[in-house]
Amino acid sequence: MKISDSMREAINEQIKAEFDSAYIYLAMSAYFKSSGLDGMAHWMKKQYKEEVEHAEKFIDYLYERGERVIIPDIAKPKESYSDALEVFKTAYAHEQYVTSRIYKLVDLAVSEKDYATQSMLKWFVDEQMEEEDNTGSIVAKFELLGNDKHSVYMIDRELASR
Ligand SMILES: [Fe+2]
Repeated sequence: MKISDSMREAINEQIKAEFDSAYIYLAMSAYFKSSGLDGMAHWMKKQYKEEVEHAEKFIDYLYERGERVIIPDIAKPKESYSDALEVFKTAYAHEQYVTSRIYKLVDLAVSEKDYATQSMLKWFVDEQMEEEDNTGSIVAKFELLGNDKHSVYMIDRELASR
């Protein structure tokens, strides 16, 4: 069964959103690197790579359905932040936004009775739960330890092991 035009377009838009996410995290990694926070820079670079993998998953899905993929422009990400906590708060809010995008894709797939796309999206629904937990728990760590130099140093060391 062929995928609908609206579903194909929505997935192409999500491919762009995943690359935009990758770039946002790569810019966060560069910000951390320039701030001497190598552990956080490492964590964000891994996150960047995961987002590229997400984009590739959607690309491969469209190929599998015999569809044309449009490789998108990537938006220029924000370059600097006031501190590490602001970065992780932004990342957490961004993941919540991505979850809402994935849910909209599920809504569309359900309304179109597109069972194959629903099945593919299940992986992303689960993944988003994990992504929100990952970023949210780092914000929670700041809330627990405080946002002073010592806490930032400790969290930086912990994130180096991702
Ligand atoms: Fe993603």
